[in-house]
Amino acid sequence: MNNKFLKNVVFTLVVLTSLFGCTKKDNEILIGEYGALTGNDASFGQSTNKGIRMAFDEYNSTGGIKGKQLKLISYDDQGKPEEAAAVVKRLITQDKVVAILGEVASSRSLAAAGIAQQYKVPMISPASTNPKVTQVGDYIFRSCFIDPFQGKVGAKFAFDNLKLKKATVLRDIKNDYSVGLADVFVEEYKKLGGEILSDMSYQAGDVDFKAQLTEMKSKNPEVIFIPGYYTEVGLIARQARELGIKAILLGGDGWDGDKLSEIGKDAINGQYYSNHYTTESTDPLVQEFIGKFKTKYKETPDAMAALGYDTARILAEAIQRAESLGSDKIRNEIAKTKDFVGVTGKITLNEFRNAEKGAVIVQVDNEKRKFITTVNP
Ligand code: PHE
Repeated sequence: MNNKFLKNVVFTLVVLTSLFGCTKKDNEILIGEYGALTGNDASFGQSTNKGIRMAFDEYNSTGGIKGKQLKLISYDDQGKPEEAAAVVKRLITQDKVVAILGEVASSRSLAAAGIAQQYKVPMISPASTNPKVTQVGDYIFRSCFIDPFQGKVGAKFAFDNLKLKKATVLRDIKNDYSVGLADVFVEEYKKLGGEILSDMSYQAGDVDFKAQLTEMKSKNPEVIFIPGYYTEVGLIARQARELGIKAILLGGDGWDGDKLSEIGKDAINGQYYSNHYTTESTDPLVQEFIGKFKTKYKETPDAMAALGYDTARILAEAIQRAESLGSDKIRNEIAKTKDFVGVTGKITLNEFRNAEKGAVIVQVDNEKRKFITTVNP
């Protein structure tokens, strides 16, 4: 083999890999998204994706950002933490995205955040509320409130507004969000003078909650706090009512989505949860967003759609301000987000890369979510 032949082979390989590895066109900015598009929590990923796409379509139809089109590359992590880590690695090392949006579920954000941090690619979670998520490092942000606040909101609402003094808790033991939120609720509820009669657990994927509910029934709680995701919460509500439990059911943002009522049916009506936004807001910006979303997707946007929309816009504005498309430059501009007017409220990212904003309490009324009250930090 002579030298010239070798050089030719090497050259051909270099050309081929660069052609192959590069899907990006010069007029595009690649942004990654990961979420559960299938599986138990599919409505989380699907709603977020719709919100993000709507925001990017709006920028792209008016000339894009820095004269380039925003191109979203979305991967389905199937609701599995290990898959979340794998697709985030793929977004960074193969697709070479400049920034990442996701996940909704805290456990999956936690599984992937370390990779974004390691490669110094900024990640913004639209909806993960567990405090640990942004503690992973200085490239990890979120555009929602955190559970030390959300848990306090729930405890105060149960104790002060509903005047319920005796609670039981049913938490998803494998879910960082659920465990963290349950802990805060218990602490805050006790501080207010409330009594925790029992604190029990289940695991996502369980379908029979009768053992825990029977035990709870014997304690006669006035309120049951269930910081889980909609699939299990719907089933828990039905089984609680089947067993004759009359207590008020209370939860957090993990209840949100149309599926809650589809699964929980009548059993979930009248029950309450804390959330990131309300469709009953009179703010013209919110109503305009809902109108546009309905026209585009023929459905009412839930909280994840709204958070996806806001988060995509926060990122787009940061990219617009950044002096180049370097991930470090984009990271620094995300960190400077201040008084961003979103449909989920005014967003300023604090020194811990979290958003400090209000929560709302809503009441389930079939497919509607009745606005009850706003709680500001
Ligand atoms: N806050 C939840 C978590 O951290 C995720 C979630 C957000 C679910 C908003 C529904 C709506 O896991």
